[in-house]
Amino acid sequence: PLKKLTDGLLNVASPEDRKEAAAFDINRDKSTVSVTVVGASGDLAKKKIFPALFALYYEGCLPEHFTVFGYARSKMTDAELRTMVSKTLTCRIDKRENCGEKMEEFLNRCFYHCGQYDSQEHFGELDKKLKEQEAGRVSNRLFYLSIPPNIFIDAVKCASLSASAANGWTRVIVEKPFGRDSESSAALTKALKQYLEEDQIFRIDHYLGKELVENLSVLRFSNLIFEPLWSRQYIRNVQLIFSEDFGTEGRGGYFDSYGIIRDIMQNHLLQILALFAMETPVSLDAEDIRNEKVKVLRSMRPLKLDDVVIGQYKSHTKGVVSYPAYTDDKTVSKDSRTPTFAAAALFIDNSRWDGVPFLMKAGKALHNRRAEIRVQFRHVPGNLYNRTFGTDLDQATNELVIRVQPDEAIYLKINNKVPGLGMRLDRSHLNLLYAARYSKEIPDAYERLLLDAIEGERRLFIRSDELDAAWSLFTPVLKEIEERKITPEYYPYGSRGPVGAHYLAARYNVRWG
Ligand code: NDP
Ligand code: BG6
Repeated sequence: PLKKLTDGLLNVASPEDRKEAAAFDINRDKSTVSVTVVGASGDLAKKKIFPALFALYYEGCLPEHFTVFGYARSKMTDAELRTMVSKTLTCRIDKRENCGEKMEEFLNRCFYHCGQYDSQEHFGELDKKLKEQEAGRVSNRLFYLSIPPNIFIDAVKCASLSASAANGWTRVIVEKPFGRDSESSAALTKALKQYLEEDQIFRIDHYLGKELVENLSVLRFSNLIFEPLWSRQYIRNVQLIFSEDFGTEGRGGYFDSYGIIRDIMQNHLLQILALFAMETPVSLDAEDIRNEKVKVLRSMRPLKLDDVVIGQYKSHTKGVVSYPAYTDDKTVSKDSRTPTFAAAALFIDNSRWDGVPFLMKAGKALHNRRAEIRVQFRHVPGNLYNRTFGTDLDQATNELVIRVQPDEAIYLKINNKVPGLGMRLDRSHLNLLYAARYSKEIPDAYERLLLDAIEGERRLFIRSDELDAAWSLFTPVLKEIEERKITPEYYPYGSRGPVGAHYLAARYNVRWG
């Protein structure tokens, strides 16, 4: 197991291997791991980070000696933090099992320190408390920055100068947004690098931790049948779709200065695209994978305004229920033009993908919640069945759908003979529905990513050159939209979004799936 740890290959190991490795490693060097959640009083910490840490503890994936610290300005005692955290913990992993005892054990390892984000003195006090818990063992420290971006640098500076691990590793998980454009992102990276080395920075994109996104490489590179088809020769278009059936509820303040292109497309959807379209990496090593992702991102054509449609949701009444407009949010200005929906056509100018449209669509307050990758294949040349039966099967090309959420699934649409004496074809699905095939609960993305950060596995985190390439693609069009004050197309809350998205797709001969 230790070999796997040091190889950085732990992601290919089972939870049992991970448990064994964690135990082996910890017994070997008597080290400790402390996770400090900076911004512990906030929404993300409560909703995702503490529950993910508990799930890892429950699964036995955390080292024997670990401690969790909450850090924020809000006044709280350890007991109050524990009460706050306990409200969001569930026995998600095995709902029938009563995990109360484990919860108690976990909560007893949680502590709180109240401090300012720009105070070295307060981080120094945290350092003392961390040392008490570490009790002379080798200290490894992970800081999770779950705070608004304007205070990232202050917190990194104070944490690194006053609370770095004395004799083990210090790592920092940074939450998006990583800037608003190429310039601000480069400035953030430069500022972070004043205090940290690149290999200490873990830029999180939680979509990379989703089970089906992680499975993309397995699907492509460990099945003979997909990779040979994975090119312009057989693929007509690729669609990356993100849709939510609720608005910006509660996050309007943040959202209004970013918008959907920065919130979803430039990171979550683009990361999926890079994994989907990259060449075969030399190995599963983080650097080899990230090298390939950067290459594909750098081969992309800068996005043109002509290839972008933006929208914003307006209020809508359905029966007795009224749904608000985006601008009804008190934290959003009444005349805001911030897009809550966008569709875009992107192209990769390399030999594998030349001319294949990669269509992205992302929106809030739409008619459903889903995240999907849809791969539409070309028509069968000289289709025998069309010629013989004159059917309109010409429309029915194969389509591979990777449903990231909800109801995780991979299915392939094929043409099939309807059983019977006649000859009639219809479209059927070869269907891998995860809930039917796998009985175990799928881990939350934050669990996987936190565990990887603790283990030093960087494969699912964004390297700074990837980030630069991603911003280069979107920055010019974002500037143009803002400078020209482009008015978004309004769509009713709960609808399918602006019709402009359909015209954009039609221009490239595509129908949204
Ligand atoms: P919050 O707005 O809830 O902020 C977290 C904590 O930071 C607050 O509890 C508060 O703690 C402190 N804080 C808030 N505003 C300020 C301020 N202006 N100055 C100083 N401290 C402040 O953020 P979230 O928890 O929602 O998100 C944290 C980070 O994660 C952000 O970068 C966000 O963009 C990102 N993110 C969030 C997601 C989510 O679903 N919430 C999803 C993806 C990313 P206190 O007052 O106690 O110090
Ligand atoms: C976040 C965005 O990164 O992802 C949110 O800031 C969005 O706007 C969220 O709601 C979606 O994540 P998930 O995992 O719920 O699909």
